[in-house]
Amino acid sequence: MSIIDTTKTIPAPRGDGEHQGPLLEVRDLHVEFHTRDGVAKAVNGVNYSVNAGETLAVLGESGSGKSVTAQAIMGILDMPPGKIPQGEIFFRGEDMLKMSAEERRKVRGRKIAMIFQDALSSLNPVLSVGYQLGEMFRVHQGLSKKDAKARSIELMDKVKIPAAAARVNDYPHQFSGGMRQRIMIAMALALEPDLIIADEPTTALDVTVQAQVMDLLAELQREYNMGLILITHDLGVVADVADKIAVMYAGRIVEQAPVHEIYKRPAHPYTKGLLASIPRLDQKGQELFAIKGLPPNLLKVPTGCAFNPRCTMAQDICSTDVPVLHPVAEQDGTELVGRGSACHFWKETIHG
Ligand SMILES: Nc1ncnc2c1ncn2[C@@H]1O[C@H](COP(=O)(O)OP(=O)(O)OP(=O)(O)O)[C@@H](O)[C@H]1O
Ligand code: SF4
Ligand SMILES: [Mg+2]
Repeated sequence: MSIIDTTKTIPAPRGDGEHQGPLLEVRDLHVEFHTRDGVAKAVNGVNYSVNAGETLAVLGESGSGKSVTAQAIMGILDMPPGKIPQGEIFFRGEDMLKMSAEERRKVRGRKIAMIFQDALSSLNPVLSVGYQLGEMFRVHQGLSKKDAKARSIELMDKVKIPAAAARVNDYPHQFSGGMRQRIMIAMALALEPDLIIADEPTTALDVTVQAQVMDLLAELQREYNMGLILITHDLGVVADVADKIAVMYAGRIVEQAPVHEIYKRPAHPYTKGLLASIPRLDQKGQELFAIKGLPPNLLKVPTGCAFNPRCTMAQDICSTDVPVLHPVAEQDGTELVGRGSACHFWKETIHG
């Protein structure tokens, strides 16, 4: 199904059509920043995958490596100081880290698009939104100004901007925050990507608008069968839109699970803490739980499990041995598909 009418243009390539595995697969990715004060290991062996039509939510507090992983996938990491000493990022079975700069540029934007938190700084304030949207079609598809404008209006309609035709010549500051974020979604959709990475797409918006923009994104993702990586620090916003969740802490995935299972039965104390800190409608007025302490400075990550100084379940082994992501099983040993926890005491956490 097409987002826009592409009969007049040659559609962007949509993969090799033969690849059977996941749309995107990140394998053992490491990213480090070489700073004056030392080497900060921002991403430390991350593995995740996304299929077409699937939404992966990546969660974790500030500094856990969510955005840096996304920047590595997009090929927009600051290098230097950033460096990828190890890892593979397969898109439709092809390792993007082995592609030439030119091949990489073709994938970026056309096949993988990104939506950032702050639409105001991503959009050019002195150009109309119609011009900026139209540029995607003029530059990438060689459309005339008139056709590009018509396509822009279609896309603005698609992301439910009221009176799109009348507003196409307006400037970014003339739109509300929620409407600007819809424009960013429209820009990401313009070239019909296979995968969208949305980095905190609703964080700057108020709660009601957040839900509307999130619903729109989920609706479009389903309609066009795109993969979606949704980065957020808020477990509350992903319950209805994500298929699966990866929780990050200090550059590692500490828990992964299908979305509903993680809410019912977290298998990592950090996830448990994040869940307990979500405001709930049925507990109005009650003080919210907060995980004590702060995420570690990446130049001084605690030995063993990086979460150990903040963990209420920590034992001696936690400060000496790094826990690996372990498959999670029922008490009778039946493995829970798609689940993993990097905690020495995952059994006690999920079944305790
Ligand atoms: N250009 C850079 N130079 C040095 N360190 C960096 C750079 N970019 C990111 N980092 C470090 O990498 C770590 C991970 O950052 P990242 O932006 O991925 O966090 P995040 O999980 O997206 O957090 P947030 O929720 O705040 O967006 C942070 O400690 C950050 O300081
Ligand atoms: S490994 Fe230890 S410190 Fe880390 S989360 Fe599990 S119990 Fe807590
Ligand atoms: Mg971030």
